Amino acid sequence: MRIVIQPDAAAVATFAAMEIANQVKSKPSSCLGLATGGTPVGAYRELIRLYKSIPISFANVNTFNLDEYVGLAAEHPCSYRRFMNENLFQHIDIPLEQTFVPIGDAGSLHGECLAYEERIRSLGGIDLQLLGIGSDGHIAFNEPGSSLASRTRVKTLTQLTRTDNARFFDSIEQVPKSAITMGIGTILESRSILLIACGAGKADAIAAAVEGPLSAALPASSLQLHPCVTLVVDQAAAAGMKRADYYRMSEAERARLEQL
Ligand code: PGA
Repeated sequence: MRIVIQPDAAAVATFAAMEIANQVKSKPSSCLGLATGGTPVGAYRELIRLYKSIPISFANVNTFNLDEYVGLAAEHPCSYRRFMNENLFQHIDIPLEQTFVPIGDAGSLHGECLAYEERIRSLGGIDLQLLGIGSDGHIAFNEPGSSLASRTRVKTLTQLTRTDNARFFDSIEQVPKSAITMGIGTILESRSILLIACGAGKADAIAAAVEGPLSAALPASSLQLHPCVTLVVDQAAAAGMKRADYYRMSEAERARLEQL
């Protein structure tokens, strides 16, 4: 796992945007896995800024979002479809029909989950998956206890996740109780993964994901099984890692080798 410790949230956002832009520049028909929540907002803002300042096109990119609340229509102000349209898609040249977010109010939720998996497969799989992390170590909405082999399905949200996400709704009662989410098995099939985390509230989850045992009790620890993960954190989110000095040294050595 590559662990990059940045001074602050702005530097995390810049790093993530550069990684996404580099992916699209090296493969213009990339399939990107995208995330919602508070953390990716800065990365998307920075990506939009890059889009306006360098020659880059998303015209041939396909995107798959990690998850969507069950019961929320695309037009709902708190839907992840709406979040993505407003925070990224409407600011870049990606055709909306190449952007996929699970349909939270599908007639058959199970059918939607199967179709989502099939669509990812039929478009060649995800090249780069952006992830956040929950304070309980969840990735996407794979809550603690999720099977490490899980596929896209409906998952019940924990009370902690609903409380964490209540800030996006008028009240906690309005936060849906379940979501369609890519599974851990689905996420691990991505060719590369970029996890971003900021703030002291993520420090314990980050430390456990990187340095703790591999366990379904902490879904992000499953990333230890993946050969190509970059984890980018700010100082506050890095504070719980015991080997932080070693990760800093590794990044310095990596930079030195790149200059040879
Ligand atoms: P956040 O959510 O970016 O809003 O903290 C992360 C997550 O729950 O995956």
